[in-house]
Amino acid sequence: MTAPAIRARDLTKRYGDVQALDGLSLTVDSGEFFGLLGPNGAGKTTFINTLVGLVHADGGEATVFGHDVEADYREARNAIGLAPQEYNVDRFFPIHEVLEHKAGYHGVPGDVATERAEDALKTVGIWDKRDTRFDWLSGGMKRRFMLARALVSDPDLLILDEPTAGVDVQLRRDLWEIINRMNDAGTTILLTTHYIEEAERLCDRVAIMDDGRKVEVATPDDLMARGSDTIEIGLADPSVTPPTLTVDGVQNTRIEDGQLLVTAAGGSSVAPSVMRELEANGHTVTSLDVRRASLEEVFVDLTREDHGGDTDVAMEVEA
Ligand SMILES: Nc1ncnc2c1ncn2[C@@H]1O[C@H](COP(=O)(O)OP(=O)(O)OP(=O)(O)O)[C@@H](O)[C@H]1O
Ligand SMILES: [Mg+2]
Repeated sequence: MTAPAIRARDLTKRYGDVQALDGLSLTVDSGEFFGLLGPNGAGKTTFINTLVGLVHADGGEATVFGHDVEADYREARNAIGLAPQEYNVDRFFPIHEVLEHKAGYHGVPGDVATERAEDALKTVGIWDKRDTRFDWLSGGMKRRFMLARALVSDPDLLILDEPTAGVDVQLRRDLWEIINRMNDAGTTILLTTHYIEEAERLCDRVAIMDDGRKVEVATPDDLMARGSDTIEIGLADPSVTPPTLTVDGVQNTRIEDGQLLVTAAGGSSVAPSVMRELEANGHTVTSLDVRRASLEEVFVDLTREDHGGDTDVAMEVEA
């Protein structure tokens, strides 16, 4: 398959005064594990809903494996397994029946649908709950079920809208493992999450969205390389004022809990020079550690830029 899994061009969607999508363009390659990050209200769910036909965009276009999401709605929709952010489940049927119906809706014949439902429930570990209705599942089991329902049509593109919101550590790891396995087997994954660390661990590339637009798209490593690293230095002669450093790349120095903290772009390449300068000035370095910028820090910087004006206003009011 050579067509990208998702290609969106200039998508726009307005709700009253809110421009939920404001010229969003984004390409997700076939086979990628792609993260979509952005603050609440950035337009992530709206974008996903345009792909599955739940939202009709005002402008622009989107294709899924080359199928236009409006003109070739069926083909596009059949390629997608969606675990939505909000539960929209038929609550009155046993969950295995809900899955069989879902597979049937995607054109899977009856006996195959029964097998698929069984496989999906076993994959997510709630096969023993197959005769239970959705309402009676625990919160974590509901999350597992949503993934099972996304898997039952054997999709080429799996879209997970905050699949791990509010789940415990064990379940989060289970879900990671399941979706990693799916991706290894060739399924394209689009994941939204507010656990930035989750995107850092799982995704090949991430897009950062804000105000209905794409702010950035890159690998987690490339994004993290843009942040400032922190060099944590223990000194034999701790002081209350940080020593002066003239090394190129140093952005800031401060003393915290008796340690000298130096922020710098590319911390590990700057650290040796920092150490030499300190020792040349009579300090004795007792420990040194470089803490890399996290994706979370870079994310906060990138999404805060847009709202710089708001922050200033808030500060003025406080003062
Ligand atoms: N059906 C709707 N009617 C009116 N406004 C809507 C509707 N759906 C979304 N919006 C608005 O569009 C904007 C984008 O919402 P969306 O749900 O896409 O954000 P999101 O990035 O998924 O956020 P979250 O991280 O909170 O899930 C928000 O301002 C939201 O209030
Ligand atoms: Mg959302």
